[in-house]
Amino acid sequence: MNSAVAKTEVDKTEQEKPARTRFLAACHCQPVDRPPVWLMRQAGRCLPEYRSLRERYSFLDMVRTPALAAEVTLQPIRRFGFDAAIIFSDILVVAEALGQPYQFINGEGIKMEWAIEYGYHVDRLDPKGVPERLTYVIEALQIVRTELNERAALLGFAGAPWTLANFMLEGGSAPFFSRAITLYRENPRLYGRLAEKLTLAIADFLKLQISGGANAVQIFDTLGGAAPAVDYDELSGRWLRDLAVELRGLAPVILFAKGVNDRWSELGRWGVQVLGVDATVSLRAVADQLPPAVAVQGNLDPNLLLTDPATVNQATRELLESMRGRPGHIVNLGHGVPPEAKLDCIEALVDTVKAFK
Ligand code: CP3
Repeated sequence: MNSAVAKTEVDKTEQEKPARTRFLAACHCQPVDRPPVWLMRQAGRCLPEYRSLRERYSFLDMVRTPALAAEVTLQPIRRFGFDAAIIFSDILVVAEALGQPYQFINGEGIKMEWAIEYGYHVDRLDPKGVPERLTYVIEALQIVRTELNERAALLGFAGAPWTLANFMLEGGSAPFFSRAITLYRENPRLYGRLAEKLTLAIADFLKLQISGGANAVQIFDTLGGAAPAVDYDELSGRWLRDLAVELRGLAPVILFAKGVNDRWSELGRWGVQVLGVDATVSLRAVADQLPPAVAVQGNLDPNLLLTDPATVNQATRELLESMRGRPGHIVNLGHGVPPEAKLDCIEALVDTVKAFK
């Protein structure tokens, strides 16, 4: 290779900070050359390379086979160059490892073998066996970690106790989630026993993911906003705080408490490094309510990815401008990438962030 060309290439890589460093700096509200970007559900049905693997394997086979989970995790990184990869898995693997198996049925969603109804169902959940039953996730993380090196941060994740409890009580996907709140009202001690077991299992699983190579972890409390305000703390908040205490100092924690919109300053005191924010609120307004050391992640409308690149470019620039001067912003959507997302729209989003000065 011509030495002048080789030199410019070296200069270029020296200028661009490794993505992993950029991502972790943003988690700690430290200065960055530009905000890092990744998208919830960046791996999956929007990608033709995912759909073609899905013709040969079921969703759960892909989740449970480390080489396949690792491949699917890396697909969006290769195509779009995101700053973080999230391990391809599912929040319900913890329910399964506790003893409540499930299936994913195309077009219908999640179906669990049985639903929690009685005290003995909670008694037979076994948190101690969880780490051993989820070693396949750790093996997948290790493969991805080696492949990525500094190219992107690697994220582990788990569902929050409240969100998991809802699925486990309904026995899968449901049009309305009513059974968890009903159990809490009828038998708060039994709800507490379930949430406590879930918290133990989730804490162990997240710690294991961190020791297996995850640089940060995200807790998905996707149903957080569905908890009535007066019961929020007993249903979700106190268990999230327990998790934050368990994980303190191990790796940055991103808490995605979807829809919990009047509690930002409270959540900001819980000791998590990053709060995920959905698209229903102004990200800057949320950030301004938080201590300066707490970062925010979000919050473009997922449906923007159904429009066109120019529209995405403009919305992304507006978001970036609105956050200018506020350290600690990780660009993401307010929820997952829709399966019908247009690839050129995802590309426009990433390119706009990468061009931002
Ligand atoms: O973000 C990523 O790219 C990582 C992978 C990931 C998946 N699910 C893959 C998946 C993550 C982080 C999740 C989290 C998850 N899983 C949540 C919380 C976040 C959210 O989006 O609300 C919840 C509630 C689940 C449970 C779950 N898994 C449901 C309700 C469904 C069916 C609904 C649907 O989207 O069809 C799943 C299936 C699922 N999880 C798919 C993927 C890619 C679709 C599988 C397929 O069709 O191939």
